[in-house]
Amino acid sequence: MFLVYDVIPMAKLKTVYMCSECGAQHPKWAGQCSGCQNWNCLVEDVIDKSKPAAAQRVSSTQVRKISDVDHKVIQRFASGINEFDRVLGGGIVPGSVILLGGEPGIGKSTLSLQVLAKLKLPILYVAGEESVEQISLRAKRLELKLDNVDFIESTAVESIAATAEQTNPSLIVVDSIQVVKSLENFGVPGGISQIRAVTDALVTLAKTKNIAMILIGHVTKDGELAGPKLLEHLVDAVLYLEGDRVHSYRFLKTIKNRFGSTEDVGVFSMDSNGMQEIPDPAAEFIEEREKLVIGSALSCTTEGNRAFIVEIQALTAPSSFGHPKRSSNGFPINRLHMIIAVLSKYYGVDLTGQDVFVNVTGGFRVTDTACDLAVMKALVSSCKKQNLKHDTVYIGEVSLTGDVRKVPYQKMRESEVKRLGFGLVGKF
Ligand code: TYD
Ligand code: MG
Repeated sequence: MFLVYDVIPMAKLKTVYMCSECGAQHPKWAGQCSGCQNWNCLVEDVIDKSKPAAAQRVSSTQVRKISDVDHKVIQRFASGINEFDRVLGGGIVPGSVILLGGEPGIGKSTLSLQVLAKLKLPILYVAGEESVEQISLRAKRLELKLDNVDFIESTAVESIAATAEQTNPSLIVVDSIQVVKSLENFGVPGGISQIRAVTDALVTLAKTKNIAMILIGHVTKDGELAGPKLLEHLVDAVLYLEGDRVHSYRFLKTIKNRFGSTEDVGVFSMDSNGMQEIPDPAAEFIEEREKLVIGSALSCTTEGNRAFIVEIQALTAPSSFGHPKRSSNGFPINRLHMIIAVLSKYYGVDLTGQDVFVNVTGGFRVTDTACDLAVMKALVSSCKKQNLKHDTVYIGEVSLTGDVRKVPYQKMRESEVKRLGFGLVGKF
């Protein structure tokens, strides 16, 4: 730190506490952010408080009318990996900045390399996390030809810009944004002010030189090493790669897209040959089952504009404790409590003395209410040992008044259920 003072005596460094959720600055640490009211989200950071050398004289700027704008068809770089291209609205737009977020180890680097191998463009890859040798081993194992990609291991944003000036790439991939630093910023690498400064510099580079960028960012479950959440407004598109480590399925979701809709979702499975596309994933999450089953019901959930058939399993068993257990995997636990209460109050099924377990198979995490009816059916089936048909899909939202209602995207779900040859039930 003394060295830094020596070299740039003008810098006025100050320690502040920044909120990793909303970016608000606080002079002292506190348990709660006064900006967004979140708890335990302030992290120590260093900022430069010195004033710009000279205030520039600001003159007025030219105004434009929308009717004067020349509409050009947007050209896109399509990789041919359809599940990737579709979430961006058909491919990467030149000069656009894409943030690709996800938990560590979920497959961001693997997917990026597979996409790069298909794009026949000059590309610059900033390898901040793995050495070029490691990347080369992976590329060899996945049989990826990456002759069009120049790799650098430097993580200074100034050096990335200088290299781009020389090699003139159409696309720069930064893996990952957390390890890149700016020589002009004194914040800790991966800290909020550093990540912001670096992203700002990269976005400027993308816009002035018309270079597309994919910025890879790690997001942890508890939101630490935050960064990516704060960058969302700086970039043109935000993609998140989701899934869990136990199951091989990966969803590529769009949170924001200035050049397309956020309705599309890409589905992959991760195997020993990298990320494999699943072009028709609707029935991927269920397995062959007996004709008549107890404690298992099918439902149809949606992600973006795609529908998926999921299997909901339920088990009820007499509890040996005074406070019976309610456990849920893949289905919101509060919703399960509500459904148990509705069954007891309106349908005469009392689960008060029963332990209740619910599981959505295939690692799917249901977030919409269309699966309520299937949960209800599976619970009653397990409790009363009643058979359910293996090829019937139950779609319906259970309300607090006990009735079963239609759900958003009802038509899309129905047509998907029909296409796959299942029966459909929307009543208890
Ligand atoms: P990676 O792309 O390095 O994840 P990220 O960049 O998001 O951190 O993927 C790492 C994981 O993926 C690792 O646990 C091994 C697994 N993997 C496969 O299952 N198959 C493969 O072909 C590859 C390359 C990785
Ligand atoms: Mg990686």
